[in-house]
Amino acid sequence: MERLVFGRFFCHLSTYRLIWFLAAVTLCRAQVVTQDEKKLLNTPASLRCSLGTSQEVLVVTWQKIKAASPENMVTFSKSHGVVVQPAYKDKINITELGLQNSTITFWNTTLEDEGCYQCLFNTFGSGNVLGKACLTLFVQPTVFLYYKFFEDHLNITCSANARPAPVISWKVSGSGMDNSTEILSHPNGTTSVTSVLHVKDPKSQVGKEVICQVLHLGTVTSFRQTVNKGVWFSVPLLLSIVSLIILLILISILLYWKRRRTQDREP
Ligand SMILES: *[C@@H]1O[C@H](CO)[C@@H](O)[C@H](O)[C@H]1NC(C)=O
Ligand SMILES: *[C@@H]1O[C@H](CO)[C@@H](O)[C@H](O)[C@H]1NC(C)=O
Ligand SMILES: *[C@@H]1O[C@H](CO)[C@@H](O)[C@H](O)[C@H]1NC(C)=O
Ligand SMILES: *[C@@H]1O[C@H](CO)[C@@H](O)[C@H](O)[C@H]1NC(C)=O
Ligand SMILES: *[C@@H]1O[C@H](CO)[C@@H](O)[C@H](O)[C@H]1NC(C)=O
Ligand SMILES: *[C@@H]1O[C@H](CO)[C@@H](O)[C@H](O)[C@H]1NC(C)=O
Repeated sequence: MERLVFGRFFCHLSTYRLIWFLAAVTLCRAQVVTQDEKKLLNTPASLRCSLGTSQEVLVVTWQKIKAASPENMVTFSKSHGVVVQPAYKDKINITELGLQNSTITFWNTTLEDEGCYQCLFNTFGSGNVLGKACLTLFVQPTVFLYYKFFEDHLNITCSANARPAPVISWKVSGSGMDNSTEILSHPNGTTSVTSVLHVKDPKSQVGKEVICQVLHLGTVTSFRQTVNKGVWFSVPLLLSIVSLIILLILISILLYWKRRRTQDREP
């Protein structure tokens, strides 16, 4: 998505609006071309501003747009070169040095870097011409899909962690089930969405495939799981094996004692 922002200097004059408008069409080619960026969190990211005209630019300033007022980050001018504000020293730099085109690069984005930025081209005679670009940071989903049998029901759980929050939906055949969803936000900026599919009659789902669909940033990814009988029987099976082992140990001890007693009796 490209965005054009007209220079503040021209566009804020409001008298003689019509004359102004006509003038603006010819003069207000003072446009800044920018592009919003969507990047993976904890990776590098760049924002670029390109001044459409060949006006004489003295200083290019990048600012972070904040609720109170814009905060200066870095400037570039022929006379002073690049000047990075202390708060941004190890975080960013200008990686395209120019007075018409300027690019800043975040070496490794963090949550605080998400937001909107503006570039100001301080021009000779026309004041500041500015452009605005926004940075959105995302995290790809991590998904877990598993199921568990209980005495009288079966719960299938699908959990997805991502930024922004993912959306979970189920694709199943059969009836007699309902689902509940829990949403949890984490300090690291991700959101976990956990959906539990509650199956009242577990036998009806055995051998069948369930699909958990995760929607994130317009992309749907399917995760499949076939419900196996094996796990269902494993608890009683485990119990039998443990009992069998205990029984064998008991028999061995008994046999050992018996043998010792007969040995003791013999001189
Ligand atoms: C970026 O920062 C994250 C979190 O601090 C870190 O795990 C990662 O290794 C860093 N990446 C680079 C390329 O420095
Ligand atoms: C930023 O880039 C300029 C120009 O490439 C370089 O001279 C300067 O050392 C860099 N500053 C930092 C803090 O990396
Ligand atoms: C600025 O970038 C544009 C492309 O975005 C290019 O056409 C133009 O030549 C560049 N101008 C300068 C002065 O580097
Ligand atoms: C899960 O719950 C939603 C909302 O309650 C419902 O629309 C959907 O059909 C349910 N899905 C399944 C597979 O039961
Ligand atoms: C964020 O935190 C949650 C909960 O602690 C964790 O499950 C998840 O893996 C973390 N994600 C990243 C990208 O660090
Ligand atoms: C299975 O899921 C249902 C519905 O979400 C829930 O009420 C029930 O407590 C779950 N069973 C177990 C043993 O966690």
